[in-house]
Amino acid sequence: MIELPVDSKISIADLVRDPYPIYKDLRASAPVIKLEAVDRVLLTKAADTKWVKDNPEIFSSDDPNTPMRRAFLAHTLMRKDGDAHMRERMAMAPAYSAKNITGHWMPMYETIADAFVAGLPAGETVDLYTALAGPFAARCLAQLLGLPEAGDDDMQRWSQTLIDGAGNFGWDPALFEHSDLANAQVDAYMDKVIPLHTRLIPIPVFCVRWSRLMTRSR
Ligand code: HEM
Repeated sequence: MIELPVDSKISIADLVRDPYPIYKDLRASAPVIKLEAVDRVLLTKAADTKWVKDNPEIFSSDDPNTPMRRAFLAHTLMRKDGDAHMRERMAMAPAYSAKNITGHWMPMYETIADAFVAGLPAGETVDLYTALAGPFAARCLAQLLGLPEAGDDDMQRWSQTLIDGAGNFGWDPALFEHSDLANAQVDAYMDKVIPLHTRLIPIPVFCVRWSRLMTRSR
């Protein structure tokens, strides 16, 4: 059994505030280390994370000790290996075929990017995160998921809240309350738009095929 170095100083608050200097230090001093604050082993080198991802028989994604299932209220493909993962991945794969990427998504994303850039105020300092990156990603995600009517603010809040929940390794109940609310709002929205999709929108979004499959496999 290999003895890993253990850190008892780094806190969850430190990691939330700004993880990047911490990762940089750890890459130099201890790239594989156990963090007591989150009770997880942290890998900070790309080559190590790739090796772990490439060897699921040793490092299974099906890890019940992560907050993913609690946050998404579902066992998602991100925590499945092998056939179970592949089944869900293949349900969305047609939406990402090379033909759909070049013929459908690229032109759409370029149009969205052009509109956001054209809408930026001229002659003043702009926060590119809030004015461009956030809403641009939200709009592209809404189109990709097949929820084109969802507002940018809702998309950003739902995404961030679910990501915060999935990374809630401190198991803070408040973060799960927020993700529960986001799940309820997304579910209500999906229930409303999915029946419209099947009849009206012949585009390669994956939410319809994917949501049918997820409903069956929950
Ligand atoms: C609201 C929508 C989304 C949310 C809330 C979300 C959330 C997440 C979270 C929490 C993770 C980290 C997983 C972990 O801890 O292991 C993740 C990883 C990832 N997501 Fe998403 N995601 C969303 C949409 C998408 C879409 C549309 C795609 C692809 C087109 C995508 C591709 C990925 C990939 C490739 C990873 C890395 C998976 C891995 O390392 O195993 N995500 N996402």
